[in-house]
Amino acid sequence: MSLADLIADADRVVAFTGAGVSTESGIPDFRSPTGVWTRYDPQDFTFDRYVESAEVRERSWRMRREFLAAGYTPNPAHLALARLEQAGRSPGLVTQNIDGLHQDAGSRHVVEIHGTARDVMCIGHQPRHGTPDGCGWRMPVDWALAQLDAGDPDPLCPLCGGLVKSATVSFEQVLFGDALEAAVSLAGTADLLLTVGSSLVVYPAADLPLLALRNGARLAIVNDEPTPLDDVADLVVRGRAGDVLPEAVDAALSR
Ligand code: APR
Repeated sequence: MSLADLIADADRVVAFTGAGVSTESGIPDFRSPTGVWTRYDPQDFTFDRYVESAEVRERSWRMRREFLAAGYTPNPAHLALARLEQAGRSPGLVTQNIDGLHQDAGSRHVVEIHGTARDVMCIGHQPRHGTPDGCGWRMPVDWALAQLDAGDPDPLCPLCGGLVKSATVSFEQVLFGDALEAAVSLAGTADLLLTVGSSLVVYPAADLPLLALRNGARLAIVNDEPTPLDDVADLVVRGRAGDVLPEAVDAALSR
């Protein structure tokens, strides 16, 4: 069975994407030989380090500004998944990415299980155990960039004075309950779970393909390196997402 066959045979394709779906847009992934974690120590990017260190927060804002200033755009892999949804063959997708490129590509039902870099939120004054406990304040990230431009290197919540952070999930931070619930529900409805560009090593996100399998879905993995779930997948396609997905989706939709 080819990927086009699996997609053609499916009514409810749910994609589960990782950083590898965005590398062809110019955004580095984390664990491949040129990934972010080959240059930075993930231990410096934990929730607690962010809370306890103004220097870590200032560095994080500098990195966020650079990321957003790059103006990344969707690539053919994002666009192919949006076509699948627009054709009524996918109820939505779950992404581990925080870049917003699926939405920019036209996908409407996107569950961002690790949050989004496009918003910032209050996480409270001294949140503990990886659990944000902010006042509920949340704004587009432009608010924070404007504060930085005005000379404030460590913006605080304008409502309660709490710490402000990207609305993303850092290491050792608990996931946002509503996003996790939506991801589980979406994966549970799939008759084909398609992972794209993920090393499938970060939990609980990487549980989703296994949940779909347990619910009777088929599992297809598109990744240019081996993953721990290759042995339980119905199909593994070793290749670049920007090549593999458009070809398979367009072949399936033209049948
Ligand atoms: N096409 C197909 N696969 C690709 C491509 C591509 N163009 N580019 C990279 N890959 C593969 C890499 O070989 C790698 O196996 O995508 C995978 C990306 O894996 P990771 O870098 O581990 O990214 P991801 O799985 O999304 O990481 C999960 O870890 O660091 C945290 O919160 C972060 O959401 C992230 C989570």
